[in-house]
Amino acid sequence: MLRIAGKETMLNFMPLLAQQSTIPHIDGMYVFMLLARISHIVGAIILVGGQFYIRFVLTPPNLAAGDTSADRIFGGHRTMWARCTGGATALILIAGIINYVLIIKQHERFDATYHMLMGLKILAATGAFLLAALLAGKTAAADRIRENWRSWLVVCLLLGFVAVALGSVLRTYPHIRKADAIAPPQLIAPANPSPQ
Ligand code: HEM
Repeated sequence: MLRIAGKETMLNFMPLLAQQSTIPHIDGMYVFMLLARISHIVGAIILVGGQFYIRFVLTPPNLAAGDTSADRIFGGHRTMWARCTGGATALILIAGIINYVLIIKQHERFDATYHMLMGLKILAATGAFLLAALLAGKTAAADRIRENWRSWLVVCLLLGFVAVALGSVLRTYPHIRKADAIAPPQLIAPANPSPQ
C-alpha cells in the first residue's frame, strides 16, 4: 500500500540510500529510455500546450455558439494543427508504452496502486487524444463537436492536465532497479564439526 514515510522510516532507510550510486549508470538502454522520456514529455508539451494556446489566445472572443468554421477558429491553420496533433499523439503513445514496459521489466514489483493509476492515466489520455483529434478534424463529427467549441476544448485540456498530474505521481513511486535490490538475509546452517 501507498504510505507516507515518517521520520523514523526515513532514518531506517538512510544506510540503504548511502549504498546507492548517486549518478546514473550510462549505457545504451539508459540513452534509449532517456530519449523515450524526452519524446513523451515533448509530445505532452505540444498537445496540452497547443490546446491551451488555442483556447486562451487563438479562440476569437466573439465566437458565436454553433460557429463551426474551423479555419476561423484556428486562424487559418487547421491542417497544420491537425498534423501536429497526430504527431504529438503518436510520440506520447509510442514513448509512453515503451517506457511503461521497460520500467516494469527493470524494476522490482510496483505496488498495485501504481498500475491502477497508470490505467486511469491511459483512460484520461485516450479521451484527450480522441477529443484533440476531433476538434482539429474535418469530418461531420468534428463540425458537430465544434458547435460547443469552448466546452469541449476545456474538457480536452482538463484530461491532459489529469494525465500530467498522474504521470508526475507515478514518477514519485520508488523505482528500485532489480540489480540494486538488496538480497534478503540468508540462513546458513552451521557446518558440522569435523570428526577428529
Ligand atoms: C495526454 C497524454 C499524456 C500526458 C500529457 C502525459 C504526461 C506525462 C508526464 C508529465 C509524465 C512525468 C514525466 C517525468 O517526470 O519524467 C509522464 C510519465 C509517464 N507516462 Fe505519460 N502522459 C500521457 C499519456 C501516457 C500514455 C498513453 C502512456 C502509456 C501508454 C503513458 C506512460 C507514461 C509512463 C510509463 C510514465 C513514467 C512513469 C514513471 O516514471 O514511473 N503516458 N507522463
